Amino acid sequence: EKGGYEHFMLKEIHEQPNAVIDTYRGRMLVNEGIIRMAGVDDHIEKFLNANRIIIVACGTSWHAGLVAEYIFEDLARIPVEVEYASEFRYRNPIITDKDIVIAISQSGETADTRAAIQLAKEKGAFVFGVCNVVGSTISRESDAGAYTHAGPEIGVASTKAFTTQITVLTLMALKLGKANGNVSASDYHMHLQELALIPEKIKASLTSDAHIQAISDIYKDSANFLYLGRGFNFPVALEGALKLKEISYIHAEGYPAAEMKHGPIALIDEQMPVVVIATKRGHYEKVVSNIQEIKSRSGKIIAIVNEGDVHVKELADHVIEVPDTLELLSPLLTTIPLQLLSYHIAVMRDCNVDQPRNLAKSVTVE
Ligand code: M6R
Repeated sequence: EKGGYEHFMLKEIHEQPNAVIDTYRGRMLVNEGIIRMAGVDDHIEKFLNANRIIIVACGTSWHAGLVAEYIFEDLARIPVEVEYASEFRYRNPIITDKDIVIAISQSGETADTRAAIQLAKEKGAFVFGVCNVVGSTISRESDAGAYTHAGPEIGVASTKAFTTQITVLTLMALKLGKANGNVSASDYHMHLQELALIPEKIKASLTSDAHIQAISDIYKDSANFLYLGRGFNFPVALEGALKLKEISYIHAEGYPAAEMKHGPIALIDEQMPVVVIATKRGHYEKVVSNIQEIKSRSGKIIAIVNEGDVHVKELADHVIEVPDTLELLSPLLTTIPLQLLSYHIAVMRDCNVDQPRNLAKSVTVE
């Protein structure tokens, strides 16, 4: 059942190239230049007339929502807010019938996310579900939706659900950007072509496994970790930190790299590993100077870079390479080494990777 892998989590990490293919199969027709998504097509006017999109989710799904915020605003130019479902439901949010609420949930059973969509429906919003489990409560209670088609995710730590959620949301943003005229025909085709290359590039990212294992061995006893990223990769930093916390029980924090100087930099000393996402299209020069700041305070730098990087390689203690892609698609690749890092550290610390203490696969309590 684990397909020869030691844990479900590792199996699911390695399933990502195919999971992404399954997610866009039948939807993305690259040569024809078509993105077909019934849940969007059937309600296209709603989407095109929406004042804004509010994304509600928890945990990793909330991180996918943050990535989607950047992607939707960039491609479709529709204002997006991303809310923790648990916060959204307990305040008195301003929602109208011109709002679209997108609920993201792997399980489709998360209690807070369910309650958030109930509230949104009462206030007249159109609710769109992005779920993985077919027939799940949230998928049934939404007005429309799109499944991620990642296949069953058994490990409590979400991996392939995250990358497939981003895939679905990218397809939606591209489709809407084309429909509302914010994405030109040539840009649209270029994005489709790049998206089609992602599964192979995820595969390439997975080949760093042994190298990541060696890095994990060096830092497995650290008490703390920092994760930094900017732009589209800021939510990936949050996600990397969450993965490490939940399965290895090491305290970790994710931050937008530029916020470091407003506080967290005080934590940095030779005991502090800092994972920095430093791919070349994402404010590279700025990230390089953040890395210099860490280095001058003796922090240990593990950098995620693009193949062929030169500058960061000179500064970092370790680099892990991922292929180059559009900045907007880079979270689909930069997240892979962070999943592997948390996995190997957890295994080395003898933690129960697939069923970490105090956690359940779906949180059906409020
Ligand atoms: O099933 P959902 O996507 O609604 O679950 C949301 C969170 O509970 C979930 O992502 C959780 O944070 C994971 N354990 C993270 O790996």
